[in-house]
Amino acid sequence: MDLLVKNGTLVTATDTYRADIRVAGEKIVQIGDALEADTGTLVVDATDKYVLPAGIDPHTHLASPGQGTTTADDYLTGTIAAACGGTTSIVNFCFQDKGDSLEHAVNQHIQSAAAKAVIDYGFHAMISDLTPSVVDEIATLPARGVTSIKLFMAYRGSMMVDDRTIIKTLAEAKRNGILVMVHAENGDAADFLQQQLLAQGKIDPKYHAPSRPPRVEAEATARAAALAEVVGASIYFVHVSCTEAVEEIQRARARGVDAIGETCTHYLYFDEEDLDRPSFEGAKWVYTPPPRGKHQPPQMWRAIAGGSLGIVASDHCPFNFDGQKDLGRDDFTRIPNGAPGIEERLIFTYQGVVDGRLSLNRFVDLVSTRAAKTFGLYPDKGTIAIGSDADLVVWDPAAELTISKSALHSSVDYTLYEGKKVRGLPDTVTLRGAVIVENREYIGQAGGGRFIARKPFTSHV
Ligand code: URP
Ligand code: ZN
Ligand code: ZN
Repeated sequence: MDLLVKNGTLVTATDTYRADIRVAGEKIVQIGDALEADTGTLVVDATDKYVLPAGIDPHTHLASPGQGTTTADDYLTGTIAAACGGTTSIVNFCFQDKGDSLEHAVNQHIQSAAAKAVIDYGFHAMISDLTPSVVDEIATLPARGVTSIKLFMAYRGSMMVDDRTIIKTLAEAKRNGILVMVHAENGDAADFLQQQLLAQGKIDPKYHAPSRPPRVEAEATARAAALAEVVGASIYFVHVSCTEAVEEIQRARARGVDAIGETCTHYLYFDEEDLDRPSFEGAKWVYTPPPRGKHQPPQMWRAIAGGSLGIVASDHCPFNFDGQKDLGRDDFTRIPNGAPGIEERLIFTYQGVVDGRLSLNRFVDLVSTRAAKTFGLYPDKGTIAIGSDADLVVWDPAAELTISKSALHSSVDYTLYEGKKVRGLPDTVTLRGAVIVENREYIGQAGGGRFIARKPFTSHV
């Protein structure tokens, strides 16, 4: 059924204006004033509402392993939560076990997503073991629509890679139109500090923060940026959490390195005191890098407002409090690292608009457009334009809600944002022209999402 979105205020990363949108099939075909509905066209009234390009979340861990367990959301529950939060595209990580091929890792995710995902999805390949055959595989990834590779500089003994792997991957990726993403923390330093704290009997969640301080992140950020500079590659920093790391990205950029920085919603809201909540509740805030000092969240808001960091992702990596987080009751290093946020991401980034920290256009860029451009989805996704996919969010700026686990859709058993009051919520969401969320409730169907073969990476500097 064709669709007409009427009377809304359209907001893109660059423009804000009143117009109607006509959708035929999956695409936007007309944008204009006072468009008339044809017989059989579904009309969505967006009076007093914004119409945004739907969110794109380039950092999710659905159906993913972590510290001996698996994330609590699969492709069905995780993408329903994403949709209800206004996100219609994700790029999920495919972990490579040591000795495994990238193809096998990606195929496993293609299989688990196919019958379940309710929104569109792409994949990042993750390399933990750069064998000669994996080096050869890198060149084959773009033909499969996988145009980014993730490397971990942390998690010594499991996913951490050495500097030779980093520079070689950067060089191969550059040759093949692939963007390298790094989790930048010095894994040796974090491991040393963890062991030192445990030896002193410091086993509680609050010790997660001193086990990986800001300089541990900043050092790895500077090192990875330098390696990218040496081979002339672009580099993407996931989940940047502190001003020390932002400064290293800025330094690299000042030297001409195409260093792109992402932060996550939780770094805008929480600090290390949350790790010290009583009754082991602090374990909910054990994500990596950890929540930082109280002065850091305001600085992260400034970094996203000013453009030092260009993307807000969720790093949705949900582990239940009961039965998963409690694996680390006697040892904080055994608490599965990660937190949920796929549904909360747009809502809580938008509070920056409510508070006057972000313009509406900057908000759209941070949660949608910049990710589309960086990860080979633009202009099919990430904007409102003729020919683009009709992935739209009708956003109600007047709606208010007190966030609670019961109001959200992930299958994880908590939200970091419990009790926080918000203004501005997604109301109706469309995926390629089909209404999948109405009044914040999901009305689509399992398997309605589609694999996105992403275009090769091109630098925007
Ligand atoms: O704590 C986190 N971020 N868990 C997910 C894995 C990662 O490092 O991104
Ligand atoms: Zn990470
Ligand atoms: Zn992550």
